[in-house]
Amino acid sequence: MFVTHLECSACGLQHQWSRPQNLCLSCGKPLFVIIDLAGAGRTLKRETLATRQKSLWRYREVLPLPADIEPVSLGEGGTPLLRAEKFGGEIDLWIKDESINPTQSFKARGMSVAVSMAKYLGASKLAVPSAGNAGGALAAYAARAGLEAHVFMPRDTPRANIIECRELGAHVTLIDGLITDCGAEIARRKTKEGWFDMSTLKEPYRVEGKKTLGYELAEQCGWRLPDVVLYPTGGGTGLIGMWKAFDEMEALAWIGSTRPRMIAVQAAGCAPIVRAFEAGEKSAAEFSNAQTIASGLRVPRAIADFLILKILRQSNGGAIAVDDQEMIRITREVGASEGLFVAPEAAACFAALRSLACARKIRSGERVVIFNTGSGIKYLDCYEEQ
Ligand SMILES: Cc1ncc(COP(=O)(O)O)c(C=O)c1O
Ligand SMILES: [Zn+2]
Repeated sequence: MFVTHLECSACGLQHQWSRPQNLCLSCGKPLFVIIDLAGAGRTLKRETLATRQKSLWRYREVLPLPADIEPVSLGEGGTPLLRAEKFGGEIDLWIKDESINPTQSFKARGMSVAVSMAKYLGASKLAVPSAGNAGGALAAYAARAGLEAHVFMPRDTPRANIIECRELGAHVTLIDGLITDCGAEIARRKTKEGWFDMSTLKEPYRVEGKKTLGYELAEQCGWRLPDVVLYPTGGGTGLIGMWKAFDEMEALAWIGSTRPRMIAVQAAGCAPIVRAFEAGEKSAAEFSNAQTIASGLRVPRAIADFLILKILRQSNGGAIAVDDQEMIRITREVGASEGLFVAPEAAACFAALRSLACARKIRSGERVVIFNTGSGIKYLDCYEEQ
């Protein structure tokens, strides 16, 4: 394994990877995994990747977990990048279809790596606040690992997510509130209950799993990153993970210094990042009365807000909000033209693409990638009455 240590993303303080860690012990911000890339690059080569297994564990040298430990895996990653010619029109549009992951969402990536590490480091009871998909993924990987999963979800989480967690053997608690209230409940009880907190970016390894989105994207684009990435942003783990992957790949001399314009897409009813981006803020204030059918975007306050905003600005990207009616309308348009029943979070990205193209912020011929982060099948309650 080539992990050297963990480093605080805000103050730089170093932490040991060899015991379970949550946030920075000095400033309370997220910790990042630091990898000896020179060492990793001795056996991990661009040219030989194609001969490896399709799962995200093909990038083993840049992932945590000692080499002789079997990962907790259900076949996550290795998802297709599909050309979306009809919807894209003049734009060179591609969809990274994450809905074919185990438990039908990209959350499988983060949980495969984080559960593998939690098990290796001796945790036995894992707790997570979830908008739905992360809970399902934790439940599945914890079951696979023989660990307990404790999932806290808002009561109005889509029914499919709640049932899925229960059928995967998790202990499910429904909370009258938002994901932030679920997180607060775990924080209150975790010491007494002996739970390890698996909240996104409050432990260092889910982002490592998510960063494989960036590795796969580069590989599938022939090592030339797209011009624009549209990413449905709640906690921002995928966006942050991809950005980390781009930096690592540059250090490995796999790609150059050009980066896509990273665009965070949020719901109009819960758009803390959009509001902060437009106001030129470095952090995002809590969004009150958060409401949207796109449960993964119902995140009124993100712990890594400052990292998301930094990436959007450094990449010359942006942030845009879409309302729920538009997400619902465009889901059918995407489905009927491209054959994918996308999650409403991803539908928001297709609607955002339309507005950005109209405003000439995305131009004909540019290569754009949208992440279909999950399957629409989990959200039947939102579509039933349409
Ligand atoms: C389908 C879907 N898309 C997007 C998101 C937001 O992901 P992130 O936390 O990486 O911003 C979520 C999170 O729950 C989700 O379930
Ligand atoms: Zn710190």
